[in-house]
Amino acid sequence: MSIKDKLDTNNIPEHVAIIMDGNGRWAKQQGHVRLFGHTTGVESVREALKAATEVKVKYLTLYAFSTENWNRPKEEVDGLMDLLVTTIANEIESLNENDVRLDAIGNLSDLPENCQAELKRAIERTSKNKGTCLVLALNYSSKFEMKTAIKEIAQKYKNGEIELDDITDHLVSDHLYTAGIPDPELMIRTSGEVRISNFLLWQLAYSELHFTPTFWPDFKQEDFYQAIYEYQNRERRFGLVSEQLNDTE
Ligand code: FPP
Repeated sequence: MSIKDKLDTNNIPEHVAIIMDGNGRWAKQQGHVRLFGHTTGVESVREALKAATEVKVKYLTLYAFSTENWNRPKEEVDGLMDLLVTTIANEIESLNENDVRLDAIGNLSDLPENCQAELKRAIERTSKNKGTCLVLALNYSSKFEMKTAIKEIAQKYKNGEIELDDITDHLVSDHLYTAGIPDPELMIRTSGEVRISNFLLWQLAYSELHFTPTFWPDFKQEDFYQAIYEYQNRERRFGLVSEQLNDTE
C-alpha cells in the first residue's frame, strides 16, 4: 500500500517547496563526478512533480540554483546551466500532457541568455495549463528578494504613493517574486542538512519543515507522500495554544 492512500485529501498543502540537496554527495558515494548527481536528480524532479500532480498540490517550488551556487567550480556551474536548458526544453511536452504550468522566481535576467530564452519559451508554452504550477527558483536569493522589495516599497513611500500604515504583510508579499502565490505550508529539505539556506525566508514564516536524510537523487514519490503524511499529523498552531485550535464552539 502506498502512503498516498493514507493521505487526507481534504488537507493537502496548496504549496510545497523543496531544497533539493545531496546531489554531489550521492554522486561521490557512487564514484561519479558531481554533475552525475545533478543529472540523476532530474529524475527526482519528475518523481516529485508526478506526486504533486497526483495529490493536486497547486504549487511546487524547487530550489534549483541559488545566487551562491555561481561560486562553485566553473565546470559544475556550466554543467548545471546546460542541464537546466536541456531539461526545460525536453520536458515542455510532458508538462503540457500533465497540465503543468511552469513559472520561475529569482534574478532571472542574470541567467545565461540561452537559459533565459528556453525558460521564457517553456513558461509561455505552458501558460494555459490549469494543474500544478512548477516554480523553479533560479539564481535565487531570499535576502536579495527582500532587499529589492524593501527598496521598491521605500521608493513608493518617498513618492507619496503609500503611507507608512499601508506597509502590511500583504503589501510586502506583493513585492516579492512570489506575489500571487500562497506561502508554502510545507518545506522539504533532503540530504540531512538542517538549514534554510537563503530560501523563501519571508514565505516560510509559518511553514512546517521536513528534513530527510535521503539524498535528492534517491528521492521518490513515496518520500513526497511521506512528507505530506507527516505534515498532516502535525498541529499547526500559528502562535495559538492547542485548546484554542480545538475549540469548535
Ligand atoms: C544541490 O545538491 C542541488 C543543486 C544545487 C542543483 C539541483 C538541480 C537539479 C536537480 C537539476 C534540476 C533541473 C530542473 C529542470 C529543475 P548539491 O550539489 O549541493 O549536493 P551536495 O550538498 O551533496 O554537494
